[in-house]
Amino acid sequence: MGKIKVAVVFGGRSAEHEISLQSAKNVIDALDRKKYEPILIGIDRDGRWFLNENSLKLLNADDPKLIQLAVGDHEVALTPTGKSSQLISLSRNTSLSGIDVIFPVLHGPYGEDGTIQGLSKLANIPCVGAGILGSAVGMDKDVMKRLLRDAGIPTARFITITGKNQKIYPYDSIRSLISPVVFVKPANLGSSVGISKAGDEASYNKAVSEAFKFDLKIIVEEEIKGREIECAILGNDDPKASALGEIIPQEEFYSYSAKYLNEKGALLEIPAKVSHHVEERMKRLAAEAFRVLECTGMARVDMFLAANDNIYINEINTIPGFTRISMYPKLWEYSGISYGDLIDRLISLAMEDFEQRNQLQTSMEF
Ligand SMILES: Nc1ncnc2c1ncn2[C@@H]1O[C@H](COP(=O)(O)OP(=O)(O)O)[C@@H](O)[C@H]1O
Ligand SMILES: [Mg+2]
Repeated sequence: MGKIKVAVVFGGRSAEHEISLQSAKNVIDALDRKKYEPILIGIDRDGRWFLNENSLKLLNADDPKLIQLAVGDHEVALTPTGKSSQLISLSRNTSLSGIDVIFPVLHGPYGEDGTIQGLSKLANIPCVGAGILGSAVGMDKDVMKRLLRDAGIPTARFITITGKNQKIYPYDSIRSLISPVVFVKPANLGSSVGISKAGDEASYNKAVSEAFKFDLKIIVEEEIKGREIECAILGNDDPKASALGEIIPQEEFYSYSAKYLNEKGALLEIPAKVSHHVEERMKRLAAEAFRVLECTGMARVDMFLAANDNIYINEINTIPGFTRISMYPKLWEYSGISYGDLIDRLISLAMEDFEQRNQLQTSMEF
């Protein structure tokens, strides 16, 4: 049997472009070359796809600041043309290669939200991680929280505001409906972009306008005073939960700057120091959230641990960071699965799920 061709797709149009490059470098380095043949596809900030022989050198740099996407002239696209020639060259007008599996290392919109997953499905290629529905649901904090609430999984109280109902939610009504201190967030984003904490009329109005810069729909959520605990989930039908990790922000909250700009913005603690009983409950809730939100393959579930051991699910990330120091691979490493084995397992899970779905009948037989 030939090697499995893995298209690692990275870069992209989101605020997390750089993180994606660092994650991709680590994923590519970890692919067992005896089993896999990597195909590098870099997406530039305008959304164009390039076949990236040229990026290999830059991706292999050890200094994170040197990691860049080399934009060559070899622009490519995926097409729904069947099994052997999905990748075509736009610049050379030829079909290039078949792809056995896609590993999207893209965060935020245009990657984590179901778009790449849909493209993979049209091109008939297995794709690592959640499918279209799980990705889209995980990306939309409003829909995600409604599904959690519906399943009886605790999540912070919230309301959703769109342009149309904005007028009926002045700070006074938020104060009585939700709480005096709230977090205001764009519904579909990540990396804490557009998120602010507000505790009075002026800061609330400012937070609402800020969030509306990034989305047509925003959520206003009660502040949960608690610790931020994360759990990594791996699997399809029978997802497993890793040990827990704690994020200890050194700024007012785990903001964009605490995540990416300030090297001392947050501390990571693995394992999180919680009682055995709390740990078991958090793992169970994280795995349940994964199932309720229709995820497959992988996800990182972020929770709050508040007073009296009350647990709230904050959010799910269907394509978590994959740098060597990222929480998702670190949690699995601590739980006994090395970085390389994790990548291998994720690819197998994607191929298994794909096979299972391919065996389904797609129409009535007459
Ligand atoms: N309801 C809340 N109560 C307290 N802190 C919050 C709340 N919501 C968000 N935060 C803080 O803001 C950060 C980013 O919010 P989050 O919902 O995780 O958005 P993102 O998808 O951008 O990571 C969290 O890690 C946490 O520090
Ligand atoms: Mg978050």
